[in-house]
Amino acid sequence: MLARREFLRTSLLATGAAVCSKPRTLVAASASDSRIEILLDEPLGVISPNIYGHFTEHLGSVIYDGIWVGENPSVPNVNGIRKRLVDELRKIKAPVVRYPGGCFADSYDWRDGVGPADKRPRRTNFWGGTEPNHFGTNEFIQFCSLAGAQPYLAANLRSLPAEEFYRWVEYCNSPAGSTTLADLRAASGSAESFHVRFWGVGNESWGCGGNFTPQEYAVEYRRFVTWLPHYGNGQDLFLVASGPYSEDSSWTRGFFEELLRKGSDQLNSVDGLSVHHYAWNLSRGRTTDWDKGKGSALEFEPVDWYELLREGQRIEEIIGNHWRALGEYDTQHRIKLIVDEWGPWYRPGSEATPGNQLEQIPTLRDAIFSAMTMDIFNRHPEKVAMANCAQLINCLNSLYLAHEDKFCVTPVGLVFGIYAAHQGGQSIRTVISAPPIRYDRDGKTAAFWGLQGSASLRGKDLVLTVVNPHVSEPRETAIDLKGTRVASASATTLSSTDIHAHNTFREPAALVPQSKPLTLSSPAFTYVFPPASVTCLSLSLA
Ligand code: AHR
Repeated sequence: MLARREFLRTSLLATGAAVCSKPRTLVAASASDSRIEILLDEPLGVISPNIYGHFTEHLGSVIYDGIWVGENPSVPNVNGIRKRLVDELRKIKAPVVRYPGGCFADSYDWRDGVGPADKRPRRTNFWGGTEPNHFGTNEFIQFCSLAGAQPYLAANLRSLPAEEFYRWVEYCNSPAGSTTLADLRAASGSAESFHVRFWGVGNESWGCGGNFTPQEYAVEYRRFVTWLPHYGNGQDLFLVASGPYSEDSSWTRGFFEELLRKGSDQLNSVDGLSVHHYAWNLSRGRTTDWDKGKGSALEFEPVDWYELLREGQRIEEIIGNHWRALGEYDTQHRIKLIVDEWGPWYRPGSEATPGNQLEQIPTLRDAIFSAMTMDIFNRHPEKVAMANCAQLINCLNSLYLAHEDKFCVTPVGLVFGIYAAHQGGQSIRTVISAPPIRYDRDGKTAAFWGLQGSASLRGKDLVLTVVNPHVSEPRETAIDLKGTRVASASATTLSSTDIHAHNTFREPAALVPQSKPLTLSSPAFTYVFPPASVTCLSLSLA
């Protein structure tokens, strides 16, 4: 068998079928211990483009210096908004951006961020320091429109009355000239309605958003959403209830139980349930302390690599558990899950710009983590309607790092670029089997899956994304399209021999994806996924 595999490899190479910069990934028929079966006749649902969404908060340098560069002439900008950022967001088809928080949202008065810039008040920011309010609703909407993304606003439920939620909706959505707030919007240069559809009703209401019990929050929720202005523009508001942190399904159950005490029609007041999950505890069971449990973003061993991925993988079970809990009340499953904060969270110390709060430099490990997470969302299209990576720039799992005129795309940003191909595709059931990875966890053997991924189909274009998380071993895999032939194919891979690889302002292209065409002579073929890699196979079906 080995000899036959070698023969096929050699003959494919001889035809020039696989053009690769590194002599590793080739196509041939073989019997491997890893398999991917793509069941083209088993569609799972359309992958909402919004699962590739983003999150921006008035926190550290996300807004100021990240998005908003104001009058700084040394940074190319469009009306104060960093031009390179919106150019990059267009490239990855950014679908939606959440704003203004996070915890900041529940201490924010939206009125502070509208009207003439020189009249806006300075406030104490939730995260410390002074909030100048140079960037507010109009600037955010302009940012979204430049980026080609929809806005998703999080309302303040902890420290403003329900009336202010109502007024913010009115400010954003009332037709030109119809209300005093529409006039105020126009005075800031935006006569036309912003048509904001997505609204979060508070954020982490179990914690920084008010320390509510789920029952208390349900009472507030009912009051906040009982009557909101609608303007008949064909776009109903999509209301997202603040959900649990990670696996706490007692929150989900408590919230719906209390909400429905006023009758089953209350269910119609919720469109999405927010779920947050951060992978932060790399202590291998030593502590659950939020500060002590975190690891380093840049200095890590293979065991930390696998531990982070294990922590991230939990999101799949979390999605399943909340979906089941939701189904006890919403038996038709009209309400969807909105994973509006996700990503790894490391201890301070790897800021690209010293002093930037919560900023960390993403490495190849975070690219693998992000690809794995997006594959999970792809595999559950009926459950997850939106997800927002925390956070877009100069923060946790950022796609971009920027400081003044310096800018770089992180490995996470590169993965978003690769995975954009899945947006709006039909998710296809894909059965992946591979021997698990075994690694040493403090003298005991621990296991992590050997290969995972997802597939989607749009017309005749099949996209298969696959993560090989093994830090050092390639994974030869038999891929079976069940008889469907491929007319043309290409592979894009993000990988490095250095698991710590990352981009910086000085070396912005230390890690970049490599693409190559492939020739596949049969619907069943073998592909070798390099170690520590994210691969996208784009297959045009015959
Ligand atoms: O993303 C940083 C913070 O993490 C957000 O403000 C909050 O919602 C979460 O706890």
